[in-house]
Amino acid sequence: MSAPHAVVTGGSGFIGSHLVEKLIADGHRVTVFDAAEPPADSRAADQVGEHVRGDVRDQDALARAIRSGVDVVYHLAASVGVDQYLARPLEVIDINVTGTRNVLELAAKAGTRLVVASTSEIFGKNPNVPWREDDDRVLGPTTTDRWAYSSSKALTEHLTFAFARAHGLDATIVRYFNVYGPRQRPAYLVSRSVHRALNGLPPIVYDQGKQTRCFTFVNDVIEGTFLAGTHPDSPGEAINIGGTTETTIADAVHLVAELTGAEATIPVDTSRSFGATYEDLPRRVPDNAKARELLGWTPRTTLREGLARTIEWARANPRWLAQHDSGAT
Ligand SMILES: NC(=O)c1ccc[n+]([C@@H]2O[C@H](COP(=O)([O-])OP(=O)(O)OC[C@H]3O[C@@H](n4cnc5c(N)ncnc54)[C@H](O)[C@@H]3O)[C@@H](O)[C@H]2O)c1
Repeated sequence: MSAPHAVVTGGSGFIGSHLVEKLIADGHRVTVFDAAEPPADSRAADQVGEHVRGDVRDQDALARAIRSGVDVVYHLAASVGVDQYLARPLEVIDINVTGTRNVLELAAKAGTRLVVASTSEIFGKNPNVPWREDDDRVLGPTTTDRWAYSSSKALTEHLTFAFARAHGLDATIVRYFNVYGPRQRPAYLVSRSVHRALNGLPPIVYDQGKQTRCFTFVNDVIEGTFLAGTHPDSPGEAINIGGTTETTIADAVHLVAELTGAEATIPVDTSRSFGATYEDLPRRVPDNAKARELLGWTPRTTLREGLARTIEWARANPRWLAQHDSGAT
């Protein structure tokens, strides 16, 4: 039997590059479709069967990757990060919606299985945590840019379910919760705190740090994503993939400071740094019962352990440390 053939859109990105490594280790033949080159430090970079450069909004380019003979597509390409959706909301919406529509059409035509990466952001600011997959979305006004990412990702979920129903596509949605780990762009809470600390700058605690998150180590996310693409019971489902320990942002940043030996942290008020159209969420907690019962998935890595591994990686990667820090202060 020949090796299963997987396509990973966004395979040069943070989560995508780890997924590519996992798929290769598992014996898959992998095609990466991405607008960017693979990360230099990825062990898998040399082993990827094929790297197709292109934009997911360009169906002709995408068709060079998603074609007959492909068994499974993992669709992760997206414009990600608060800095992106505040600076380029139109691009964020267009890449998510048009890009996902293109992936769906080609996956249906090629008869592949499909996993679509979504986000805890789709729940918006629903105050009733933990969030089950079928809980309500509670959003702010369209004049607040933050909700553009949430709404465009929710629309990709609607598109996926509608497409699956109309064309009999085996598609699964995975909703990630605050992923962190090696290679993440230094524009998120954990990656930015590590980046600052190892560059001799104090990590930042936003808005007094009382907001909580369930940080999820990238290796755990990859296990969940892989199961979503291989388990017989996952098609037709949306599944939360998130950490189980609710941690305040202040505690997470202080843990980074402790593990890196950083001197201190500094407080920042986001209404001044991101502007009045930014809106932060007080709590974000997944209910993971479905992932556990359906896929047998549960996160295994504690925040302390995941941070230690991320910091160890960062210390060994001067190129990442020298990267521009794109977060706001
Ligand atoms: N990182 C998180 O905490 C998190 C949380 C929830 C959901 N997600 C989702 O997981 C997926 C991967 O996120 P990530 O953190 O690895 O982000 P990332 O920015 O590291 O990776 C995204 C990849 O997509 C590529 N890309 C962007 N626009 C493209 C386009 N138009 N055409 C082709 N390629 C394009 C980028 O070059 C990049 O390699 C995304 O769909 C994101 O919405 C991430």
